[in-house]
Amino acid sequence: MTIEDKFEELKVDDNTPQEQIAEVQAYEEADTRIGRDDPFTFGQRKLQSEEEVWNHNAWDNVEWGEEQVKEAQEKIAKQYEAPVKDFDKKLYNGNPARYWDIFYKNNKENFFKDRKWLQIEFPQLYEATKENYGPVTIFEIGCGAGNTLFPILNQNQNKDLKIIGADFSPKAVDLVKTSENFNPDFAHAAVWDLANPEGALPEGVEPHSVDIAVMVFVFSALAPDQWQQAVDNLAKILKPGGKILFRDYGRYDLAQVRFKKNRLLDDNFYIRGDGTRVYFFTEEELREIFTSKFIENKIGTDRRLLVNRKRQLKMYRIWLQAVFEVPK
Ligand SMILES: C[S@@+](CC[C@H](N)C(=O)[O-])C[C@H]1O[C@@H](n2cnc3c(N)ncnc32)[C@H](O)[C@@H]1O
Repeated sequence: MTIEDKFEELKVDDNTPQEQIAEVQAYEEADTRIGRDDPFTFGQRKLQSEEEVWNHNAWDNVEWGEEQVKEAQEKIAKQYEAPVKDFDKKLYNGNPARYWDIFYKNNKENFFKDRKWLQIEFPQLYEATKENYGPVTIFEIGCGAGNTLFPILNQNQNKDLKIIGADFSPKAVDLVKTSENFNPDFAHAAVWDLANPEGALPEGVEPHSVDIAVMVFVFSALAPDQWQQAVDNLAKILKPGGKILFRDYGRYDLAQVRFKKNRLLDDNFYIRGDGTRVYFFTEEELREIFTSKFIENKIGTDRRLLVNRKRQLKMYRIWLQAVFEVPK
């Protein structure tokens, strides 16, 4: 995305150009698409009083008051005044992989690969890498440049671990396969559309062969009318007793309320300046989508306040995290 597109997305009319640039930069630093949602002090830092707010870069479990919800809803209501035009909707929904491909072409160098929060939030993943764990297959769906695949592969001690990455962007899969960290003894990568209507499985993946499916910021890239197909496809791939580890954008996240005109595709569903799509979920929606086929182990909301002290900016981030299980 160009800096002009970012401006369009983030523009606050009464800000000076310097403030707008500062805001764009702060937002870019917090861009989850390139892995920068690193809650390394997760659950440990609670804001007790407003006066403390500038003392740290991040606060956990920040409470939202009614006023704040109302403010977010008002901003979202304004987005309905200028939604995406029908012609453009068809364009963006027609070939979403193309826009992600361009994204990876433009962002080759920018990927953050050491997500420490994965170990804290999804300990199952790291259990599987221990020396005597035994045979296990992990599948990262919408793997992008391999932000989950590589941290697991890099610390693996389990000779019976198999890790698969799939993405519908050929460029992303290429980045994974050509990485110097890619080890074909344990890893495999394929181009695959999670919501493909034929119910096809990724090349090299047998039905009901996966123990753990990881979906980090991928479900939000689907249109709501693709959710059921994606769940059906997942059910075909996972073993009985298998797990789905999920993290994605939550309703009223900064990224949602910041959208301005010509971005709204559908309720809570947007097109970014670079043509990639993004949905913002509630806990209830996740429950409805996934419990049609799976058992809910956990659904939680991670509310964080990220503070850019230098620029005196407050950014309210909301992510959902969940674990589902396949019935035995
Ligand atoms: C926001 S990025 C997240 C990448 C990676 N999971 C991470 O956390 O860094 C979303 C990824 O999902 C992929 N994606 C979007 N829709 C997909 C689909 N229907 N099937 C497979 N991959 C998809 C995109 O190409 C992109 O790589």
